[in-house]
Amino acid sequence: MATNATYLSFSLVFLALLSSGLLIIVSDAFSIEEATIKDLQLAFKQNQLTSSTLVEFYLGEIHKLNQKLRGVIEVNPDALRLAEKADQERKSGAARSKLGLHGIPILLKDNIATKDKMNTTAGSFALLGSIVPRDAFVATKLIKAGAIILGKASMSEWAGLRDAPQGWCARSGQGKNPYLLSAEPCGSSSGSAISVASNMVAVSLGTETDGSILCPSAANSVVGIKPTIGLTSRDGVVPISPRQDTVGPMCRTVADAVYVLDAIVGFDHNDKATREASRYIPRGGYKQFLKPDGLKGKRLGTVRHTFSSTANSSQVIEAFEHHIQTLREQGAVVVDNLEIANIDEILDPSRSGEIYAILAEFKMALNTYLKGLKASPVRSLKEVIAFNKKFSKLENTKKYGQSLLEAAQATNGADDKLKAALLNLKKLSRDGFEKLMKEEKLDAVITPAVYIKRFLAIGGFPGITVPAGYGNNGFPFGIYFGGLKGSEPTLIEIAYGFEQATKIRKPPSFKNDSV
Ligand SMILES: *[C@@H]1O[C@H](CO)[C@@H](O)[C@H](O)[C@H]1NC(C)=O
Ligand SMILES: *[C@@H]1O[C@H](CO)[C@@H](O)[C@H](O)[C@H]1NC(C)=O
Repeated sequence: MATNATYLSFSLVFLALLSSGLLIIVSDAFSIEEATIKDLQLAFKQNQLTSSTLVEFYLGEIHKLNQKLRGVIEVNPDALRLAEKADQERKSGAARSKLGLHGIPILLKDNIATKDKMNTTAGSFALLGSIVPRDAFVATKLIKAGAIILGKASMSEWAGLRDAPQGWCARSGQGKNPYLLSAEPCGSSSGSAISVASNMVAVSLGTETDGSILCPSAANSVVGIKPTIGLTSRDGVVPISPRQDTVGPMCRTVADAVYVLDAIVGFDHNDKATREASRYIPRGGYKQFLKPDGLKGKRLGTVRHTFSSTANSSQVIEAFEHHIQTLREQGAVVVDNLEIANIDEILDPSRSGEIYAILAEFKMALNTYLKGLKASPVRSLKEVIAFNKKFSKLENTKKYGQSLLEAAQATNGADDKLKAALLNLKKLSRDGFEKLMKEEKLDAVITPAVYIKRFLAIGGFPGITVPAGYGNNGFPFGIYFGGLKGSEPTLIEIAYGFEQATKIRKPPSFKNDSV
């Protein structure tokens, strides 16, 4: 954080440059770029920054970068008005201005409903112009916490259920990884990760069914928190599987992610999973677990498995060995090379039954979502598929097939096949991740790659990824921490301890080649 004096000199230099027609970023003066929620709030408080300036900055960055990166699908036409309102509230000392996220711009993945001028489409033209009954519960919570919804983030269409590359959706095209433009950004919360990584917004929300927060967060060098199922309401979120879907923050730092998490958790009578999970929410929220010495005494187990990664996997492993050492130096006990029973089956979703279960649940849940809309071009999965066929000439839509959507349409609701798949997933989780956590008395499992997502997905468990390095080619990778239901306090202590001891994240360089 800069002092008043450096900001003042920055402003003067800035004005001087502006009036002479030059625009140069002065490097070590106060900069919105990379600023955390805490930095921004301090700047608000010290009258160094207004929400209007902040929103204008991000809109400018979106204008400049998004043509290439495609992380943002829509901006909120009311964002500046909302920022001016926040500035008024701050100026008049209104009670609202003391709220946790007051005046902070946030981007929501395009499957999170807002009942404002923006669309909620899961990246698909089929939902363009649909009218949602209300804001998603998490959007309501963010607004109540003072946040400004800056826009919607692009995503892998239908959260990955379209046969298309990760980060692609018909409405905004191919999202790009700001660290390595030739590489995929991972998905499905691709735009949330791309946008926050490249400073087009302060913080963002993504959703995860199986890896959709963790993978793009790591691939774009940001922090992602995948909360326990039901900790955050899914009401107003275009669904895949109510058994596996969760909404979580994607931010540049653990602290930012935790402030956002604090704002969005809670009981919602429109999502019954929140009833059970809300008892996990600690009194005083999650920010109390941002302890620099959070690793002290934690018992961590590594589970290693071969994996492929756009970053050189031997470099990932090399970094992982180094990080294990750091975790130990910070006071954690690391039990290395643990094994999870039936790991090959768990990691193969067609074998485990996960794919079938997700597709069957998607059909039921999507049909319910679509019927609940006030207006919509499509009212069922069947109509979505027909729409894609009929309008395949819309820009880009013809490029990719829809075999997963069709496979989902071919499922038969809560039939014996689904019941068998769910039983198997329960058993795999119980004999696998759960057993290991209990037998080894672990606080968390750590992995060097995203395959942990499947243990967490089938059990409804939470996970956090933190930037852990960059390959020779500049491609980012993360480290992953996962735990049992409700273990967010512990995971936050671990993730924050790791982040503070390593501070690996750096802003993207928009590299074009794949050397
Ligand atoms: C929402 O979609 C409609 C088309 O149905 C479009 O006219 C409008 O501009 C979109 N809203 C935003 C904020 O982009
Ligand atoms: C991967 O990393 C190893 C050691 O760091 C190096 O020898 C190898 O050439 C790298 N491979 C690629 C494809 O970058």
